[in-house]
Amino acid sequence: MKNALIVYYSRKGENYWSGSIKNLSKGNTEIVAEMIAEITGADLFEVDTVKSYDRDYYVCIEEAKKELREGARPELKSRPDSLEGYDTIFVGYPNWWSTMPMAMFTFLESYDLPGSCC
Ligand SMILES: Cc1cc2nc3c(=O)[nH]c(=O)nc-3n(C[C@H](O)[C@H](O)[C@H](O)COP(=O)(O)O)c2cc1C
Repeated sequence: MKNALIVYYSRKGENYWSGSIKNLSKGNTEIVAEMIAEITGADLFEVDTVKSYDRDYYVCIEEAKKELREGARPELKSRPDSLEGYDTIFVGYPNWWSTMPMAMFTFLESYDLPGSCC
């Protein structure tokens, strides 16, 4: 697939995996994003925040709930200057409180993406 990008957010470390909390060297979404990259040849971009979430899974859950309630838009470490060279963009993220991690809103809202919605 030409001119394709995979943008994803994923939590490493303490996370939920196959029914229990495990210490993951790679997040679940990250693994899927890499599979899609292998199949499609798309570029990969990992969304990451300047401020880290707590290492403890349950503390992170509460931090994310607070961010959701406040409508936070966490600052990102980096992002591509432009997405204009891409025809297809895959967006991957875990379910955080029944929506996207707030960092994905920061990312998506920082571009003019016609036809997209979130
Ligand atoms: C902050 C936070 C909030 C979550 N909220 C939900 C939820 O509302 N519903 C759900 O089914 N799973 C929820 N989960 C579990 C994640 O969606 C699940 O573990 C996912 O596979 C994590 O993907 P990742 O490893 O790519 O980060 C939550 C996990 C975290 C860390």
